[in-house]
Amino acid sequence: MEPMLSVRNLVKRFGGLVAVNRVSLDVYPGEVVGLVGDNAAGKSTLIKCVSGVYHAEEGEIYFEGRRVSFAAPIEARRAGIETIYQDLALAGNLDVPANIFLGREVKKRYLGGLIRTLDEDHMLRESQTVLNSLEIRFPSLTVPIDKLSGGQRQAVAIARALYWKAKFIIMDEPTNNLGVVEQRKVLELIRRLREQGVPIILISHTLPDVFAVTDRIVVMHRGRKVTEKRTAETNSQEIVQYMVGALDDTRAQLQEA
Ligand SMILES: Nc1ncnc2c1ncn2[C@@H]1O[C@H](COP(=O)(O)OP(=O)(O)OP(=O)(O)O)[C@@H](O)[C@H]1O
Ligand SMILES: [Mg+2]
Repeated sequence: MEPMLSVRNLVKRFGGLVAVNRVSLDVYPGEVVGLVGDNAAGKSTLIKCVSGVYHAEEGEIYFEGRRVSFAAPIEARRAGIETIYQDLALAGNLDVPANIFLGREVKKRYLGGLIRTLDEDHMLRESQTVLNSLEIRFPSLTVPIDKLSGGQRQAVAIARALYWKAKFIIMDEPTNNLGVVEQRKVLELIRRLREQGVPIILISHTLPDVFAVTDRIVVMHRGRKVTEKRTAETNSQEIVQYMVGALDDTRAQLQEA
């Protein structure tokens, strides 16, 4: 099987700091990969190189077998890569359907096309359908996003990715600052997406979450990828050892060489 996303020897520097240091990573169809590491390990920078926020100085990124170099996040989104942050990328003053259709609004025509208005009924129905398919219930979809909880907002972001048929989803700390019930809901959504075959990269500091939903765990330390383990073949004590730099597979390889 071919990887859906393949990152090869990626390097991203900020001045003298090497935030991402020759990192390679493959993600296969239907796979949930946990990306973990201490603060400043380079996780967000790595995924921002994939999602078109940053441009890596060295290395290559392949998506669906083709070399890609996204100049901006919108290009990555058009290619089918959705990146979800907890509170970003939603318009707080707009309601749920408006957010799901943000930048892709559906218009209807009157008087032979002379007058065009937003087809709000259509967008509301479609939003309801996609949220139902995720078994997400809101008291009302027509309240501003600002009035929803962090978990509900997260659900809207995921629903949007699903509605527009994201081929690949990246989540950077999606359960941060969420209540217990909401956290569980987001984890359920990740499982559902996985069942639908959508690969996911999940960045999280919450190791129990990572162990609950991932197939594989990649650990970064100071910009480098120090190990990669099947989730079933490791445990949180071992992963923590890699996160703090006490264990390092690349160092072991260097010593062997
Ligand atoms: N825009 C930037 N300009 C300069 N330095 C940056 C920038 N973004 C990140 N860095 C630096 O790059 C390193 C990696 O940061 P990054 O945000 O990728 O870490 P992270 O693993 O996501 O950490 P956290 O778990 O705290 O989110 C850090 O030392 C950080 O200070
Ligand atoms: Mg980060």
